[in-house]
Amino acid sequence: MRALVYKGPQDVRVEEVPDARIEEPTDALVRMTSSGICGSDLHMYEGRTAVKPGTVLGHEPMGVVLDVGPAVRLVKKGDRVVIPFNIPCGSCLNCIRGFTSGCLTTNPANAGAAYGYAQMGPHRGAQAELLRVPYADLACLKLPGKPGDGMEDDFLLLSDVFPTGFHATELAMVQPGSTVAIFGAGPVGLLAAHSAALRGAAEIYVVDKSGARLSLAKRQGAIPIDFTKGDPAEQIVELRRKNKELQQALRPGEEKMPGVMCAIDAVGYQAFGRDGEKAEPSRVLMDIAKVINATGTVGLIGVYTHNDPGAKDAAERKGEIALPIGELWSKGVTIGMGQTPVKSYHYQLRDLIMAKKARPGAIVSHRISLEDAPKLYKEFDKRDKVTKAIVRFV
Ligand SMILES: NC(=O)c1ccc[n+]([C@@H]2O[C@H](COP(=O)([O-])OP(=O)(O)OC[C@H]3O[C@@H](n4cnc5c(N)ncnc54)[C@H](O)[C@@H]3O)[C@@H](O)[C@H]2O)c1
Ligand SMILES: [Zn+2]
Ligand SMILES: [Zn+2]
Repeated sequence: MRALVYKGPQDVRVEEVPDARIEEPTDALVRMTSSGICGSDLHMYEGRTAVKPGTVLGHEPMGVVLDVGPAVRLVKKGDRVVIPFNIPCGSCLNCIRGFTSGCLTTNPANAGAAYGYAQMGPHRGAQAELLRVPYADLACLKLPGKPGDGMEDDFLLLSDVFPTGFHATELAMVQPGSTVAIFGAGPVGLLAAHSAALRGAAEIYVVDKSGARLSLAKRQGAIPIDFTKGDPAEQIVELRRKNKELQQALRPGEEKMPGVMCAIDAVGYQAFGRDGEKAEPSRVLMDIAKVINATGTVGLIGVYTHNDPGAKDAAERKGEIALPIGELWSKGVTIGMGQTPVKSYHYQLRDLIMAKKARPGAIVSHRISLEDAPKLYKEFDKRDKVTKAIVRFV
């Protein structure tokens, strides 16, 4: 089969590799119809992870079932399915507690496994014609319609970024009427904004430097904030201070809550500083500590890694970066973080798409062939006009 293979930093190529096949009775073999390219893939592409050369990349799979192992009962040949980026077994301690992102049996080295990702187990990736799907009855979410139809993009985003954007709003405890600041207008930040709107947030601010991405955020109903034009926390506070209706409605002492109640980091350790160019891994954490109100809630959905070969010093190489713990602690902030347990939101978000109440596919800017994927990685790595790219096999 043809697959996208990581060769080294800034070097991915399409190569012929041995076909994926059924290896365990609980496996399915799925022919990809769509496979997403993710901001998480860029960490590997840039040489900022411990991924091994030769790894087939891709963890956003969707396709049609070609074959199933003898123990698979719920999925059958011909089913149209989307598959989470996590690989859970369904029966370990973490899986039964709902933390399918921390499965204890599918990655020999750590808690949590994924397709085609650094330190997430031996599983080959989905930017390939075929994918072996372990524990297929749990993994595969059945979809209506036909491959390549008008819902292909929306459904593909159920593999990662839509549940991930939603999980960010869960970690940040976004509720009807919430005020929310989202840092990063990549696919995850944009779908966190979409999710915040679905949950009824009153004010949604999205911070980035890319005009193309910020205008998509505006289309999601968010207020765009360009961090190269000044401290984003101060810009948000200033917009709220200038809002007469808000100011007239304050209760006693509420002027001490000038920022937002919920904040989301959809950037992670590859954050830029204010100039929009120089790496500053704790920039977003600092800005969030400033803009979050006392007693607020924060979701760190952007990746922080414990193994960054491209970091500037020994501490950062181990993922030890500055955290404004004093300000966060004094404010009594609650923080959640980590990989998304996609299964917790999978059918619910699919049903919102089917009911035409969610349209995550609106962020997709590029649909390409597998052969064009290496060129696309280069463009996507600029984090600007390519807002979300999908490899299409149909
Ligand atoms: N937790 C999970 O399960 C999970 C799943 C998928 C992706 N992720 C992670 O989420 C993050 C975002 O993913 P993506 O696909 O949207 O990536 P992306 O790289 O396309 O987007 C990141 C955006 O952040 C912006 N940015 C950089 N520095 C900034 C700053 N200081 N302030 C505000 N914005 C800034 C960039 O301009 C870019 O638009 C990545 O770290 C990715 O690995 C996590
Ligand atoms: Zn992804
Ligand atoms: Zn498990």
